Amino acid sequence: MAEKATITLGEKSIELPVITGTENEKAIDISKLRGQTGIVTFDEGYKNTGCTVSNITFLDGEQGILRYRGYSIEDLAEKATFTEVSYLLLYGELPTATQLKDFEGQLTQHTLVHENLMKVFEVFPTGSHPMGQLMTLISALSSFYPESLNPNKSPEQLNLTIIRLLAKMPTICAMIQKKGKGHPVLYPQNRFDYVSNFLYMTFGNVTDEYKPDPVVVDAMNKLLILHADHEQNCSTSTVRIVGSSHANLYASIGAGVAALWGPRHGGANQEVLEMLEHIRDIDKGDVKKVVAEAKDKKRLLFGFGHRVYKNFDPRAKIIKVACDNVLAKLGVNDPLLAIAKELEEAALTDPYFVERKLYPNVDFYSGIIYKALGFPTPMFTVLFALGRLPGWISQWKELREKNEDIGRPRQIYNGYTHRPFVSIKNRK
Ligand code: CMC
Repeated sequence: MAEKATITLGEKSIELPVITGTENEKAIDISKLRGQTGIVTFDEGYKNTGCTVSNITFLDGEQGILRYRGYSIEDLAEKATFTEVSYLLLYGELPTATQLKDFEGQLTQHTLVHENLMKVFEVFPTGSHPMGQLMTLISALSSFYPESLNPNKSPEQLNLTIIRLLAKMPTICAMIQKKGKGHPVLYPQNRFDYVSNFLYMTFGNVTDEYKPDPVVVDAMNKLLILHADHEQNCSTSTVRIVGSSHANLYASIGAGVAALWGPRHGGANQEVLEMLEHIRDIDKGDVKKVVAEAKDKKRLLFGFGHRVYKNFDPRAKIIKVACDNVLAKLGVNDPLLAIAKELEEAALTDPYFVERKLYPNVDFYSGIIYKALGFPTPMFTVLFALGRLPGWISQWKELREKNEDIGRPRQIYNGYTHRPFVSIKNRK
């Protein structure tokens, strides 16, 4: 017999269905609760609310498990490329060699952006933040592809819109870095794979030949894979809720970029590096003082804590090892890495952090690698977005395929009850 939960409100008891996922996670389906009782559930910050049944990503925060379509993040980061993982997220299975060749072929056909998109840069003041630019440029794609405005047109049209966005994203991200430096933009070169092309457009120069360093390509693939999806996080939920109104893909992803920008979410990777520099330059390396200030709520330790992981963040474990490897292979000796390790050690042995289950998250070490690879700090969250793109798109695609209802939470109103209008001459 199907499992039920019973809720008793005063004299009345009602039964609610219980949904069970393939990993035995359970949820009480309260969708009919208001209709039956007039009462809603309350959960500020959605800490305890499931909003969809999804087949894409499984995350167990207690055990530190993260899997895309059933494959562990450890295996994918070690053995796959970012395009393989993108295919897996989007279409549900790892591609065969032929499918991957075809997918990568489609991506290379759409790497160029409309020349007029570059004119958008002319309106940005010098020093404007890359994430604001990214948000604008992605949303602007909807103007160049008006056929994408109706996401319900046809599966073929939808897939073309998806391929276009995935293909143009590295070009746009690289353009942002080039324009920020006042350097000429490089056009994509289709002889390169997805990640090498991005590195070429970002670090190549019109004056020289560019050969991607395999160490850098490998590190970049790993970092992008680790960021590729994370089920119903803040930006993904944003993409889903915008998409639920049947807004087009570019508008939905532009909104996701906005949500990612915040320092409690993807913006934390920029904050971590700035925090480590602050500890080096202003706090004179006094990690104990920093930990004490965090405990006194005078500052946040960026790169620590997670809404879901309450044991360890599996992505952070992989990144920490990758960070050591990349710096060693590139011959970079960054004192910020030593500060980061000291800070991690100090926090992990402090009862404040232990009791609250605060561990380093994905953003703690990623910035040190990005810095070693040559990215300016304000670009870090753009790199997070580049990695998260296939996840956002897969979640948006799943929502469209299931034709989910429009997202529209309820509230408990706690303002004035009705009061008479006061004319302006009588107001005090
Ligand atoms: N430094 C110091 N104290 C912290 C921190 C931190 N980084 N994170 C949480 N706490 C404290 C918090 O003050 C609270 O203490 P108390 O119980 O005394 O009130 C307790 O730990 C629980 O925190 P919370 O804010 O209720 O936890 P949350 O699940 O709502 O927030 C978080 C999660 C990630 C927003 C938060 O830990 C944070 O702001 N961390 C720093 C920013 C950061 O690194 N964000 C990246 C997240 S991972 C990448 C991504 O997916 O975006």
